[in-house]
Amino acid sequence: MKLHPQISKILISSEQIQARCRELGAEITRAYRGKRLHLICILKGGFMFLADLVRHIDLEVSVDFMAVSSYGAATTSSGTVRINQDLSRELTGLECLIVEDIVDTGLTLNFLLQHLDSHRPASLKICTLLNKPAARKAEVPIAYQGFEIPPEFVVGYGLDLDEKLRNLPYIGVFDPSAAG
Ligand code: IMP
Ligand code: MG
Repeated sequence: MKLHPQISKILISSEQIQARCRELGAEITRAYRGKRLHLICILKGGFMFLADLVRHIDLEVSVDFMAVSSYGAATTSSGTVRINQDLSRELTGLECLIVEDIVDTGLTLNFLLQHLDSHRPASLKICTLLNKPAARKAEVPIAYQGFEIPPEFVVGYGLDLDEKLRNLPYIGVFDPSAAG
């Protein structure tokens, strides 16, 4: 695959992502065997991961979406989380799994866990595609993770820089020196 001009290198290939989605789907299927699972996708970054992951979960599932923003146009976390679109149904009594693109500072998920927990789900866990532990400011319990990555700004496969580059099929390191 030809590299996008604003990407310095491919960190995780499309094939690696697909293989990991299969593994995570199988792991989640085993863990929730006999239960219904409610997946909460955090938009916008989580849309591609949810779409691939859910195809490998062999359970009765429902999905819901929540849009939050914590970054604006910057590449470092502001620490403030804004809910741009709330869930469409109550979580009371549901086995919930948050599907997120990346845990960086942890501030977004720390806020979301407290917020969603107040809705009294039967359980509430986190599945993140990427984990960037070097930047952590708030502890978050991650039940399932795709890949641990170094402290670099990555884009693609749902992750953006200022709304761009979400459509790349791989996770790439953004190259700020590149033109465009
Ligand atoms: P946190 O609150 O710092 O953990 O940030 C979580 C959110 O920041 C994620 O849902 C992403 O939308 C965004 N984010 C953090 N790191 C990156 C990155 O390397 N690339 C793109 N978005 C990122
Ligand atoms: Mg984002």
